[in-house]
Amino acid sequence: MERLKQKIMQEGNVLSDSVLKVDAFLNHQIDPVLMQEIGEEFAGRFAGAGVTKILTLESSGIAPSVMAGLSMGVPVVFARKKKSLTLMDDLYSAEVYSYTKRESNEISISKEYIGPEDTVLIIDDFLANGQAALGLMKLVERAGAKSAGIGIVIEKGFQEGGGELRKSGVRVESLAIIESLKQGNILFSKEEAT
Ligand code: G4P
Ligand code: NA
Ligand code: NA
Repeated sequence: MERLKQKIMQEGNVLSDSVLKVDAFLNHQIDPVLMQEIGEEFAGRFAGAGVTKILTLESSGIAPSVMAGLSMGVPVVFARKKKSLTLMDDLYSAEVYSYTKRESNEISISKEYIGPEDTVLIIDDFLANGQAALGLMKLVERAGAKSAGIGIVIEKGFQEGGGELRKSGVRVESLAIIESLKQGNILFSKEEAT
C-alpha cells in the first residue's frame, strides 16, 4: 500500500536494527484518514471471504480494525490483555509469549461475541514473531469459528512470524512488509501480500 509506505518513510523512526517506531500515526497519535484507507484496503483484499467479524488485540490493533469493520460492515472484537472486572465468566483465553518482554500473557475474549457461526478476520498493527497472531488464532479456534486469515498493517519480514504463518497455510495480507531496518534505513520488500 503506497500511501502507507510513504507515511512510514516520512514519519517512522528506526530505533534499532529491529524496531520501527510509528507513534506519529499508529501506536500513539493516530491518523484517521490513513486508518480509513487502511480499513478500505483490508476490506478490498478480504472481499468475498465471508467475514462476519474482525478480531484484534488491544490497544494498537483497534484503530485499523474499526476502520476495516466500518468498511466491511461487520463488528470488531478486541481481545483483552488484562481481565477486567466485567470480563470474568465465560471466556476464551490463550497464552501469548512475548520475546521482547520474555513473559507469557493471557489474552481473552467473552464467549458472547464470537461463535461457530462466525468467519473471523484477524487484524493487528505489527507482525514480528507472530505470537500475538497465533494467540488470536487460538481464540478463533476455541470459539469454533472459521478463520478468513490475518490482515497486518506493518510486517517485519526479517522476523519469522509471517513466513511461519504462511507456511502453515494461513492467509496473511500485510499492507507494508519491511525487509530491513539496518543502519537506520527502511527497506521494503517488493512482495506485499501472500
Ligand atoms: P516480539 O514477539 O517481537 O518479542 O514482540 P511482541 O509480540 O511481544 O510485541 C510487543 C509489542 O511490540 C506489541 O505491541 C507489538 O505490536 C509491538 N511491536 C513489535 N515489533 C514492533 C516494532 O518494530 N515497532 C513497533 N512500533 N511495535 C512493535 P503491544 O505491546 O501489544 O502494544 P500495543 O501497541 O498493541 O498496545
Ligand atoms: Na499490537
Ligand atoms: Na504495538
